[in-house]
Amino acid sequence: MSGANHGSVGLNTLMDDLLTGKETLAVVGLGYVGLPIALAFAGKMNVIGYDINQKKVDIMQSGKDPNNELEDDAFVGKSIRFTTTIEDLSEARVFVVAVPTPVTRFNVPNLGPLESASGDVAKVLSKGDVVIYESTVYPGCTEEDCVPILDAASGLQFPNDYKVAYSPERINPGDKVHTLTNTIKIVSGCDEETLDFVASLYESIIEAGVFRASSIKVAEAAKIVENTQRDLNIALMNELSMIFDRLDINTLDVIEAAGTKWNFQKFTPGLVGGHCIGVDPYYLTHKSIELGYRPEIILSGRKVNDNLSKYVAKKTIQKIASKGKNINEAKVLVLGVTFKENVSDIRNSKVVDMIKDLRSYSLQVDIHDPHANQSELEEEYQLTLTPEIGSHYDGIILAVMHKEYLHFDEAYFKSISSSDPVFMDIKSAYLGQMKDMDYWAL
Ligand SMILES: NC(=O)c1ccc[n+]([C@@H]2O[C@H](COP(=O)([O-])OP(=O)(O)OC[C@H]3O[C@@H](n4cnc5c(N)ncnc54)[C@H](O)[C@@H]3O)[C@@H](O)[C@H]2O)c1
Repeated sequence: MSGANHGSVGLNTLMDDLLTGKETLAVVGLGYVGLPIALAFAGKMNVIGYDINQKKVDIMQSGKDPNNELEDDAFVGKSIRFTTTIEDLSEARVFVVAVPTPVTRFNVPNLGPLESASGDVAKVLSKGDVVIYESTVYPGCTEEDCVPILDAASGLQFPNDYKVAYSPERINPGDKVHTLTNTIKIVSGCDEETLDFVASLYESIIEAGVFRASSIKVAEAAKIVENTQRDLNIALMNELSMIFDRLDINTLDVIEAAGTKWNFQKFTPGLVGGHCIGVDPYYLTHKSIELGYRPEIILSGRKVNDNLSKYVAKKTIQKIASKGKNINEAKVLVLGVTFKENVSDIRNSKVVDMIKDLRSYSLQVDIHDPHANQSELEEEYQLTLTPEIGSHYDGIILAVMHKEYLHFDEAYFKSISSSDPVFMDIKSAYLGQMKDMDYWAL
């Protein structure tokens, strides 16, 4: 299979050709990142949305977001065709790749989806085309790992025959304030002409505008660093929280007091799950180790955050046992299992680790979550949601503060508990509000 011959034209007319419908843009990988991007472009130009998951494509074809992030009206009036057929991409001249970049169980980058998507794009790549990567990768990945695949499978030669660019994604699922269009987007290209093209392409959909990074590597590094910084800041708060617990003081009280200084950064402790913050730093540490430097701080932060679920589980067990209760007969309710509030995403949820840890002590654990999908949870982690919150709990762990839990109060928690229960508040959501229950906050 080979793409239509678009000829080795310059990029100066490509933007106009996209906007006038003469040319088409394709988005490869239609998940939390790819679908919103595809629909945003589809409000301005003709778009082909390609994904390997037939079930998801069927749902999108019916005008719905499989992840329930976007309202149905996001699809209305958009010029987009969804497909799982690679041949359908051959008419596209611009390819935006937004496939997953997970890590293996040994915390090293799994470039499988990125390599396979690059191989697919290469099959339909033609002279004069542009491939833009949006997936989060380590610095150097686009040019060192993806370009060779594009070259080999297309028979074309970079950079004479086609161009590559990189524009990392800052989308934040569940966040209605910081959206795709009102957040500045970093763009980069393999040369000045490509950078100009990619900048104008994204300026057509991003109201906040774009930031032109000086190279693809810089843009790749910038994305990783945004998440690594957040990971480390949370790790520091988690470590402080473990120290303050021994000192019998509350972490948020300390942060509030320290936060009155002009240069104190207010971060809060918590479980760091999901596919970004807990994963992206490993892309950087992998590259760094490959280059002969083993990062100390970044890996320490990862260790602290990865072990926090164990810490909370152990603390819960200790508190229940300290009341003279038999752990084997104790019953615990976990509120929220997704990796963060108000989303259905369960990937790399650290609440799952905590539940598995609790169960290893033979506790009965009921899991409640109004957003998580039962079949995904079963498939991914062999866990079952409790259809309804039960009663006689010896411990309640507030793990994720979904909006459905906002109206819960101490009277309610007491009504579903046994005598002398413990309330473990990972989110510190009820700090200062619990008068009778044995309350613990991270
Ligand atoms: N979700 C976020 O909040 C977020 C934010 C910023 C950056 N990112 C990054 O964006 C990238 C995509 O993440 P996501 O959350 O959208 O992932 P996702 O799992 O939600 O979606 C990825 C989609 O790609 C499809 N896919 C997998 N392999 C494919 C292939 N070879 N060809 C075509 N489609 C393929 C999957 O079926 C899936 O629909 C990752 O690198 C991630 O780190 C994610």
